[in-house]
Parts: sequence; C-alpha cells; structure tokens
Amino acid sequence: MTSTHAFWLAGRQATGEDAFDVTSPWDGRLVGTVSIPTDAQVEEAVAAAHAVEAEFAATPAHVRAAALDHVSKRLVERTEEIAQLISAENGKPIKWARGEVGRAVSVFRFAAEEARRFNGGEAQRLDTDAGGVGRLALTRRFPRGTVLGIAPFNFPLNLCAHKVAPAIAVGAPIILKPAPATPLSGLILGELLAETDLPAGSWSVLPVANDKMPALVQDERLPVISFTGSEKVGYAIMDSVPRKHCTLELGGNGAAVVLADWASDEDLDWAATRIATFSNYQAGQSCISVQRVIADASVYERLVPKIVAAVEAQVTGDPNDASTDVGPLVNEDAAKRVESWVDEAVRAGASLLTGGKREGASYAPTVLADVPADTTVSCEEVFGPVLTIRKVEGEAEAFAAVNDSKYGLQAGVFTHDLQTAFRAHRELEVGGVIVGDVPSYRADQMPYGGVKQSGVGREGVRFAMDDYTYERVMVFTGLAL
Ligand code: SIN
Repeated sequence: MTSTHAFWLAGRQATGEDAFDVTSPWDGRLVGTVSIPTDAQVEEAVAAAHAVEAEFAATPAHVRAAALDHVSKRLVERTEEIAQLISAENGKPIKWARGEVGRAVSVFRFAAEEARRFNGGEAQRLDTDAGGVGRLALTRRFPRGTVLGIAPFNFPLNLCAHKVAPAIAVGAPIILKPAPATPLSGLILGELLAETDLPAGSWSVLPVANDKMPALVQDERLPVISFTGSEKVGYAIMDSVPRKHCTLELGGNGAAVVLADWASDEDLDWAATRIATFSNYQAGQSCISVQRVIADASVYERLVPKIVAAVEAQVTGDPNDASTDVGPLVNEDAAKRVESWVDEAVRAGASLLTGGKREGASYAPTVLADVPADTTVSCEEVFGPVLTIRKVEGEAEAFAAVNDSKYGLQAGVFTHDLQTAFRAHRELEVGGVIVGDVPSYRADQMPYGGVKQSGVGREGVRFAMDDYTYERVMVFTGLAL
C-alpha cells in the first residue's frame, strides 16, 4: 500500500484535496500517489516566495552554501533509494539513474562553491574620461526575483537540481514544478531542502497540473521562468510573457560527425560504441542524444556495421536489472509516436538496418540509413532510441549537414585535427561542440543551452546564476584613485 506523497509549500509539507497516481512506464505498477496543491495553496506559495525575496537575497553566502552542501551530502547518502525512485517513475535503467543522482550531487556541490565566490563585485575606474575623475564603479549582481522552474520528465532529479541549486546560490526564491509523469524525484529534493535553515517561503515544490500553468506563468510576482521541455510549450510560454526573463532549454536532434581522419579501427570502434550508447541512453529521451550520424564517405562503409553491431549489443529490458542499457520510453504513446515516425521514413525509402519494433512502451534501438531529408525523423527531435546515418564528402558538407536543422543544441565531432576542431567551433550553429565524442556529453558546470529552435539562455550552475540575476552598478565619487 502506497501512502500519498505530500508536496512542499513554502518549505513545509502540505496536502491538497486531490491526488494523482504515478505509475512505472515499464510494468504499469503504482509507484506513488501525489497530492495536488489547490489554487489557494499555490497562491500561498507564490505570496510567500515574493514576501521573502529581500530577506533571501540578503542571506549570507555561507548560509546558502551550507544548505546546498547539505543537499549534496544527503543525495550521496540516499543515492540508492533515490536512484530506485527515478528508475521506477521514469523507466530509466538503474545504472543511468545512479549516474543521474551522482550528477545532482555535483550540481549542488558546484552551486555551494559558486555561492561562496559569487558577487564579490567588479570595480571599474571611471577616470578614463575627464568627467569621471575621482569616480569608481562597483558592479554586483542581484536576483531578478522569484524563479518559476518548470522541469521535464527525462532527468527528473537532475534537471530539477539545475533549476533549484542556482536559485538558492544567488538568494532567489524558487517555485519548482516537476513533470506530472515524474514528480517524486523533485519531491525528494524538497525533503532534503526541508532539513536546511533556508527561510520559509524561499522554496516550494508544487506538482501543479499542466493546465494550471498559464496562470502561474502570467503571475507578475514570478519574473523569471526557467523551462526545460518541448519547443512548442517553451515558445508558447515565452510568447505569452514577452517581458519576462525566460530561459528555455528545448529540443535538439544531436549530430555526431565522423570525419576522414578518424579512421583507425580503434577510432571507429570508439565512435561506434559512443554513438550506440548515447543514441539509446534513457531510450533516447535526452535533448542531446545522438540522433544524426554524419560520416565521411571514406569511413562510412567500415563505420556503419560497427554502429549496427554496437546498437544490437545494447541490452534492453527491465530498468531494474543492473545489466539493462535501454528501458521503456515514458509511456506507450511516446513509443507509438516513435514507431510512426520510423514507419514513415521506411515508407519513404529509408533502409532499416536494425530495430524498428515496438512492444508496449518499449521501442527497439533502431538504425536507419538513406533517410529522405524531408521525413519527420530527419527534421524533428525523435526523443526515442533512433539513429539516422548519412554519408557526406568532406568536412564542409558534414558541417553544412549539421547546420541543416532548425535545432542547435550540441554537436559531436570525431576528429584528431586541431584546426578542424576550431573550424567546427566557429562554424557549427550550436550551443556546444564536443570534439572526439558524441553531442551527448554534458558536464553540469559548463554552459548548456542552444541556439535556433533549441532555446535561449544557458544552464550550467554558474551560467544559470548569471541568468537569474542582473547587474546593478554603484558609483563612488570624490575618490583618490
Ligand atoms: C536534456 O535533455 O536537455 C538534458 C541532458 C543532460 O542533462 O544530460
């Protein structure tokens, strides 16, 4: 028997009048029942956050850093339990769930470190013009106000951490809304935050239904919105509040480019293994999973069978089994959508090299070649375990193929050549270029975000802290500089 999970309202546990069930995408079992805040409780949380803004912004750095360190330490202590929960509610294989907890540990630790060194201020002499003689500017950053963090289902703990930890680090209150499919990991963060001395009101975790979100998005007491999710929803939010500060982490159709100089057996084995792993991790439900392989003609014939073999070696099945690499998608509808996109590509002439089968919410790791450019799998974000391979002649055509996308999140470029790497950095229209590896590499302290339809703004602890704050300058006069 599962008891109902309370939510976190202004730092304390609360329950509403209704609840919803969270079920496992793998076997449909009940993972938990989650209480839904009433409209009045949501209002209470927002009002409390707004009221505590000045107090929280003035909290000493050591207090905020200690709270963040505490959460990091507790995540370490509760790793296995939390990993089991992520795996149960999301369907993510347990080994990837453990990795996700480890990343969230780092996110909170990085945020604690950044909180300690943030906002020392930058001094600038102004006597470079006659009118500024004796004057000095000191620039420091101040929170824009309360953050509304809207998190997705695919990394139910770590992408909540990426909203919450930077907000605490800068002293900005946060209202976190976890994804309806996977709210339990976000609620666990609430449990850990409740063990700290952060002021009441400075954080809430509210599993609000999606249809209640427009009102929250419009609320003027929430001037910052940090959203991770679909392109459609992200831009709808931004368009509805053009004067708010929005960070949007949206979709991608990550490309891995394998160039002519990446040609030894060892090189190609590494590329194939990494591509196979990271087109299928979390069943492809990552914005930076490998969706498009763009291979130089000189390595194509040797690379393709290696990729197919590596994809076929991925162990599919029960997410709870330590050997499983690929579990189900978040639900059967998602798997059916992937199935229909692959079927469309095959009908249009694509070659199905492996996979292409669905069972319930699970979709087999799939490789397609010769895919027509106008098919959905070529143009849109698949968000499933599907990979397309394309042959190109040379670097210029490869880079043009990467850029021939409405998305621009990250790209991987397999090359040993430093000049090529720098050209890729200059020419690829993405937020991150990973040299010698897949686009899926993300270190949680580095800037992360996209261009084009992949969004605006950057996460990565320090970069989100900048995003949640603005510069305010103070000018001293009459100084002997
Ligand atoms: C995402 O899907 O955008 C997040 C990827 C990650 O954090 O590794």
